[in-house]
Amino acid sequence: MFVEVVTSLREMEQVGQAIGSGLRAGDLLLLKGDLGAGKTTLTQSIAQVLGFEGITSPTFVISKIYPGDVPLIHVDAYRFIGEPFAIFDDLDLDSRLESSITIVEWGTGFVERLSESYLEIEINFGAGEQSRTLSFTPHGDRWSGFVL
Ligand SMILES: Nc1ncnc2c1ncn2[C@@H]1O[C@H](COP(=O)(O)OP(=O)(O)OP(=O)(O)O)[C@@H](O)[C@H]1O
Ligand SMILES: [Mg+2]
Repeated sequence: MFVEVVTSLREMEQVGQAIGSGLRAGDLLLLKGDLGAGKTTLTQSIAQVLGFEGITSPTFVISKIYPGDVPLIHVDAYRFIGEPFAIFDDLDLDSRLESSITIVEWGTGFVERLSESYLEIEINFGAGEQSRTLSFTPHGDRWSGFVL
């Protein structure tokens, strides 16, 4: 686990771009942190460097697939916290995983079931309004030794 501190939105965007530039098909990210911590904001920066535009919060549709050579799948499972994990089966994330980049907000519990290999990023509020702490926890071979 390692920690990265940002003090501005701009720095957060740079972290997102650094993460995004290293992503490839099959990658799975689990974004944790309280409401408004910056999970969607980070996703937008990751997506931007991958060439995706118009990433919005999928809170009301749970999952959005942005088409491309390597599609981006953005999931926000907030509305289903506490529900049986079977509720996520219809998303077919497991069959799409290998050919896509998958980013999940509020996915603690079912992301672990999806793959043993994923990068966990927890965002916590800092002292300043735009201050955030990002804690990176790698899971599985793909992410061992991951650095920004
Ligand atoms: N350093 C920063 N990193 C990320 N967001 C920041 C930062 N500073 C300020 N913000 C603002 O905080 C808000 C983060 O909202 P965002 O929707 O990304 O949070 P979230 O974690 O996805 O919330 P939710 O759990 O509701 O989906 C945005 O309005 C963003 O502009
Ligand atoms: Mg969000």
